[in-house]
Parts: sequence; structure tokens; C-alpha cells
Amino acid sequence: MTTACPISSPADEFDPFGDGYQQDPPAYVAWSRESEPVFYSPKLDYWVVTRYEDIKAIFRDNLTFSPAVALEKITPTSQEANDVLASYDYGMNRTLVNEDEPAHMERRRALMEPFDPEHLAHHEPMVRALVREYVDAFIDDGRADLVNQMFWEIPLTVALEFLGVPDDDKPKLREYSVAHTVNTWGRPEPEEQVAVAHAVGNFWQYAGGVLERMRERPDDHGWMQYGIRMQRELPEVVTDSYLHSMMMAGIVAAHETTANGIANAVKLLLENREIWEQVCADPTLIPNAVEECLRHNGSQAAWRRITTTPTEVGGVSLPEGARILMVSSSGNHDTRRFEDPELVDVRRDDAADHLTFGYGAHQCLGKNLARMEMQIFLEELTGRLPHMRLAAQEFSYVPNTSFRGPEHLWVEWDPADNPERRDP
Ligand code: HEM
Repeated sequence: MTTACPISSPADEFDPFGDGYQQDPPAYVAWSRESEPVFYSPKLDYWVVTRYEDIKAIFRDNLTFSPAVALEKITPTSQEANDVLASYDYGMNRTLVNEDEPAHMERRRALMEPFDPEHLAHHEPMVRALVREYVDAFIDDGRADLVNQMFWEIPLTVALEFLGVPDDDKPKLREYSVAHTVNTWGRPEPEEQVAVAHAVGNFWQYAGGVLERMRERPDDHGWMQYGIRMQRELPEVVTDSYLHSMMMAGIVAAHETTANGIANAVKLLLENREIWEQVCADPTLIPNAVEECLRHNGSQAAWRRITTTPTEVGGVSLPEGARILMVSSSGNHDTRRFEDPELVDVRRDDAADHLTFGYGAHQCLGKNLARMEMQIFLEELTGRLPHMRLAAQEFSYVPNTSFRGPEHLWVEWDPADNPERRDP
């Protein structure tokens, strides 16, 4: 076992809020995968881990590597911003993703039934109908920003339906979700922190209000109502604090991840035209194409843990209380695990071994809902707009460590060549 060496220069400069990381996290830390797979970042005050097996080992041991920091603000905010949050009684606490054992597994078991495949199957016709309807709205235009015109709103609608939230003011929820991302995983400037704090505070109060209304109708459908019903049986497991925190975090967990995931996937496939055309020609490739896109260009770039005892990662000693940023997107590009990882290969037989949904006791509960949505998006787009191409554009990302997807995705095509015009 070696002790961490003095900070190397790339480690010193590591900045997950800069354009290098935002544009391509695995490429940005390629040097680390090669020569310093576990390093201390002074700018972040985190240990950064970039190789597949080290990240998987951390995910696997959620006792030594606690998830308690998963929703902690990565950037400490000003007193003014904290006062704003306090004025809204903001109290985001433990949900599932940041809960320790044994409470976590008891709660996960109590709440997992609505994620069963047969329960999820109920949502499929709705997702398909929504995607068709949104594509109908722009198919004759020859140009669309797929993020603004479809990828953001449909996963939000599905998330609200799954959670049981009334179909509410979507632009407001988009603003709140982005504020939550920036507040938790971003580095807002001091002047931005106050505006973000107001949006997060409003989100918290909104979540509380929705929960109150749900409590009046606990027999309605929805994962949150299911939680309210489980609270009657297991009040110590499904607590009030859990329900309020999950009401807010759940909207982001179910929505932003999937919206970013499909935007990244379509961008990646269109950038690799011959692969896009293969998928258009053979839709049976779609399920594995979704996995390969999540591996190559996933929507969760990194996730966090904190050590509960002195330990070791990849031969580097870490003290108790060390905060860790696992760059899971980098693990997905590790040559020690994936053959020719830069290649987009929709026939890769181990694509689904990616770390984008995490791994182990906390692995994403919603992964099959996300997969189903992404598959339907690809089925409809490859079927109805196989001739679309990426428009010339610069891609921008909301600067943060974890939630990653382009803010816009402009595509264009000649409507005269729409397959349904040629063969209605
Ligand atoms: C947990 C990613 C979609 C609900 C997680 C974690 C990641 C993740 C990285 C933490 C895993 C860990 O700590 O090991 C993603 C991605 C998605 C997605 C990339 C889309 C492409 C969804 C959806 C839902 C959802 C659609 C809900 C409908 C959850 C929940 C947890 C979780 C409840 C906490 C599980 C636990 O700690 O036991 N997700 N997620 N996710 N996700 Fe997702």
C-alpha cells in the first residue's frame, strides 16, 4: 500500500466545472486512468477515482464507502444563500440514494414494487403515444431542437405520472430541477447562489404542497402515494422527512437523468452516422444501442461516496471522512474493462456492464423505466426520421459534476424525404 503522493499538476488543475470536463469527462481524465487513477483534487477537496474496477469496488461496499454525501452541496454556499434556503424551511435530508444501512435496504425493499417489470409495462403505451404526438408536431418542419421540443418534456411527464404528481407547470419544474442540479452538483458564483437558493426553496415548498394534497388521496396511483400507504404500515421506515425529500429529489432522479440520457444517445448515434444507419435498418439493435450509448456517453458522469473508516482504493490510503468523486463515465472508457472503449459498437456484448446506473445496493431503481423510454424514443425517431442529421452547432452543458446532457440538440432533415410521405 502506498501513501498518496504530493499532488501532481493535472490533479492540481482538475476542474469538473470547466469546459473540458463538461464536453467529455472520460477524455478529460484519460491521463488519470493511465497514470494516477486515484488522486486528490484540492479545488474540490475530493478524492477522484477514474478506473472501472476501483469504482465498482467502492459501489460494492456501501458500508466503508457511505452514500451519505450523494446529495450534499458540492460547493459550500454563502451565508446569504443559506439564509434564503432557511427562509423556505428547506430541509432536504435522506431519501434512498444517500441513506445508510440498515435503514436504506429496509426502505428500498418496502418501496420497490412499483419498479417491477409488470408495473412498468403499464407506462409503455403512454410513453409511445407521447413520443408520437411530439414528433407529429415538428415532423414537417425540417428542423428541431430535440431537447426543447421533446426530450425534456416527455421524461418529465412520465416522471410525474410515475410519481403520481398532477401534471403541473412544466416550465417551472424545469427551472426548479436545473436549480437543484446546480445547487447540489454545481459551482454557482456567489451572485448566482441567491437566485438558485430561491428556486430550490420554492421547489422544496412546492414538493411539500404536492405531498399534502397526495395525503388527502392516498389511494391514487403513483410511487409517492404507494410510499404514503407504506408509511401507515412502516412509519419508522417510511418517514415524513423521507417522503418530503423524495418528493423533490424523485422528480430530478426520474426526469433529468432520462432527458439527458436520450439527448446524449441521439447525439452520439448521429455523430457516428454509419451506426445510426445500422440502427435504422435493424431496430432489433435498439436495446443494446441504448446500453452502448449509456456506456459511451451516459447522463451520470460521476457519483459520490464518503469513507466511514481509514481504507484503501487502488493502492492509495484514504483517511476516514474522505470524500470521493467516482468518475463513472471514465470507468466506462477504461481499456482494462472494455475492448476499444472509444469505439461506438451497438453489438458489444458487455455494453450493459457500464456504471452509469451505479452498482450494488443502491443501483438505480428506475433503470428499466429509463431504458424503456430511451428505447421508445429511438424506435420512433429511427423509424420516422432516419434521414435526420445533426445541424452545425456548439454544445453547451449546465456546469456540474454529475448530471450531463446537451442543453440543445438541433437536428435537420428534408421533410420531402419523410418515409411516411413516400409511403403513407
Ligand atoms: C439511483 C442514474 C433514471 C430512480 C441512481 C444512481 C444513479 C442513477 C447513478 C445511484 C446509484 C448508486 O449509488 O449505486 C440514473 C440514470 C438514469 C436514471 C443514468 C437515466 C438514464 C431513473 C429513473 C428513476 C430513478 C427514471 C425513477 C423512476 C432512482 C432511485 C435511486 C436511483 C429511486 C436510488 C436507489 C437506491 O439508493 O436504492 N440512479 N437514474 N432513476 N435512481 Fe436513477
